Amino acid sequence: MSISYFAECTVLVTGASAGIGREFARQLAPVVNTMILVARRNDRLEALELELKIINPRLEIFCRQLDLRDHAELERFCDWLDESGLSVDLLVNNAGLGDRGAFVDSDWERLHAMLQVNIAALTYLTYRILPSMRKSGCGAILNVSSAASLVPIPNFAVYAATKAYVTSFSEALRAELRNSNISVTALCPGHVPTEFGDVASRVPHGYVPPMAELFTVSVQEVVRRALQAVSRDQARVIPGTLVNLAMTSIVFIPMFLKRLVLNAQAARDKASLSAPTPRDYEISGMV
Ligand SMILES: NC(=O)c1ccc[n+]([C@@H]2O[C@H](COP(=O)([O-])OP(=O)(O)OC[C@H]3O[C@@H](n4cnc5c(N)ncnc54)[C@H](OP(=O)(O)O)[C@@H]3O)[C@@H](O)[C@H]2O)c1
Repeated sequence: MSISYFAECTVLVTGASAGIGREFARQLAPVVNTMILVARRNDRLEALELELKIINPRLEIFCRQLDLRDHAELERFCDWLDESGLSVDLLVNNAGLGDRGAFVDSDWERLHAMLQVNIAALTYLTYRILPSMRKSGCGAILNVSSAASLVPIPNFAVYAATKAYVTSFSEALRAELRNSNISVTALCPGHVPTEFGDVASRVPHGYVPPMAELFTVSVQEVVRRALQAVSRDQARVIPGTLVNLAMTSIVFIPMFLKRLVLNAQAARDKASLSAPTPRDYEISGMV
């Protein structure tokens, strides 16, 4: 893939303050014209802006501090975008978060944040930006989903379900837009070493998935493969040969067999997740 496919584009990246989103900004910076970077941690966005300006001094950058859980804030951001006259060519719906642990013990605030950011904000941004892509006659939407979207995951139930929504929405929207010049791609990574694991964990020491060393793909490779998929108008991309093989095969396993594995996994996880949660610390007065 030649990164020059994105030359002169205007790109909007959500969740650009860390991990995969920040890497999208870094890889696109040398060639694009304009970048709109969105996240809550503005200091991180400003540091990234300085870094990107060194890579490409002609790059126009707009950093927007935005909490995607807040619909009113998101609406104001979209209004600003409309008024700015900027026409987004590539929308990277990347911001997202997880929550690992038993659903019965979960904290509603965290679940609600996941539903808002992973589903509602992604859908609303697409809804607001698509008309201007249609008007300009072309565009690309890259929705960051997850390998978790392809199979239900006990103790990651809501996260996996939010990502199943993202993959399903992306495929359906892609079909709706087939006769236009607008592509939709779902990125479905497995484990990527970012801050995601720490944010998703309810215990202080974070979470590393089983056999992580086998299935981990670097953030650089994930983004490189994702941009390649957009440039080739691919519907879905699962970076990493092993992850791709595993997730593509899983689709062919009958659901009753998957249930046996899910039950065993849930039982195994029960022990490892019985470590105290932040709520337990609160109740016992430790924090
Ligand atoms: N890492 C993995 O193993 C993995 C695997 C599969 C899929 N994914 C998906 O990849 C995407 C990026 O994750 P990552 O691995 O890069 O995680 P990360 O390092 O934790 O980055 C998450 C990004 O989302 C932003 N974000 C979270 N809540 C937000 C909110 N309320 N408003 C605005 N921005 C918000 C964060 O910015 P602020 O905190 O500054 O707001 C941050 O920039 C997510 O959609 C995730 O589900 C990750």
